[in-house]
Amino acid sequence: MHPHLACFNAACRARYDINDVLYNCPACGGLLEARYETASVDAAQLKRAWRERRMDNAPLSQSGVWRYREMFPFLDDLSHVVTLREGNTPLLNAPRAAGYGGLARLTFKHQGFNPTGSFKDNGMTCGAAQARRLGMKRVACVSTGNTSASMAAYASAGGLDPLVFIPHGNISYGKLAQALEYGAKTFQVEANFDRILALVRVLAQKLGIYLLNSINPFRIEGQKSIVIEMLDQRDWRVPDWIVLPGGNLGNVSAFGKGLREMLAVGLIEKLPRLAVVQAEGSSPFYEYMRTKGLTPFRAQEHPETLATAIKIGDPVSWPKAQFEVETSDGTVTCVTEQEIADAKAIVGQCGIGCEPASAASLAGIRKLTAAGTIDRNADVVAVLTGNVLKDPDYIYRYHTGQLQAPDGSPIQPAFGNKPVVVPNDAERIMSLIR
Ligand code: F0G
Repeated sequence: MHPHLACFNAACRARYDINDVLYNCPACGGLLEARYETASVDAAQLKRAWRERRMDNAPLSQSGVWRYREMFPFLDDLSHVVTLREGNTPLLNAPRAAGYGGLARLTFKHQGFNPTGSFKDNGMTCGAAQARRLGMKRVACVSTGNTSASMAAYASAGGLDPLVFIPHGNISYGKLAQALEYGAKTFQVEANFDRILALVRVLAQKLGIYLLNSINPFRIEGQKSIVIEMLDQRDWRVPDWIVLPGGNLGNVSAFGKGLREMLAVGLIEKLPRLAVVQAEGSSPFYEYMRTKGLTPFRAQEHPETLATAIKIGDPVSWPKAQFEVETSDGTVTCVTEQEIADAKAIVGQCGIGCEPASAASLAGIRKLTAAGTIDRNADVVAVLTGNVLKDPDYIYRYHTGQLQAPDGSPIQPAFGNKPVVVPNDAERIMSLIR
């Protein structure tokens, strides 16, 4: 079976050429995914080859994405690849965060160690490669910030023109700054993420621009490498739970697909359970899954959260996310602004740090252990999706007691660490240190 695109909708399953420029199934409108024949894969041999590549200086071996390329063999010619040595993100033990989350132990998989500081790089290297293979000149995305930073970097590195569309006033400066610095033509649109996505889809079609949002199936292929690398780093010991924040729901879709495919070829022996955490004010997936999918999916018109990365009311990948959460016997929860802010400060106190959306993982763990959904002794990996420096404004406001929830209510800096203004006077300063 050659690599091809297939409709994700079980009632359709239409197939398309891997080189068709499609984002939804022309037959039924469903989501698309890349598919391959993997029956002949020898798991033990792959594990050995992947370990050997870690010692190899070839750029594709050094990439924590392309090292695992046998699991997403959609390219016929690897010269299309643009790599910034993405992936290679660490697993970090965090006893303090474990205690806060109600666990005996906790490991973070920190995707903020990526070249542009978020997990988007794992997917973008694949999306950019496919754009180059298709001979596209321009690429576009709408973004809450991280996708735009990543796309701008990979497009510029690969000789493509990046066009970025962002909700005006609703992304952090760190992310906007990256898009500008990496040379993206940047449009700040006066609408929210969901409306801009509809707009950009029209523009992409009319102008022949390649869309690199997570609706692009090749982005999802690359993001599978996050869980493949995680399992490789754990010597293929499967955790009980993987916990991650959910926005547009591309990442949980990628994790689920990657894990199922690893199970199918014998790289792992069982599936971990997936827990998705949304911000309370932007939680359409949580609301839907709470009814066990018995009510129709309803988008939220006006999503709100200070964790702007996940401020999304109409996540495109919800059908895939539902399938992956249910297949893994997982769960979906939501957390308040205060819970995100405090969890984020705790991640910081571990010497690790992350951006607000990422801290939803730890806030969610705390809630799920309190509810008894996650056992205190469970083996849990929480994914930190973005770097601490993505949103310094939020950090300063929290620690100085100036952070306000979208409804204007104050966030209490329960773990605040306010800077102290002092005169240039050794005695006075010593009196404050003693
Ligand atoms: N965490 C961070 C830091 C993100 O930037 C995003 C998504 C998510 C979590 C949620 O991931 O969408 O796959 O469920 N950011 C996108 C963007 C939407 O435009 O950068 P998801």
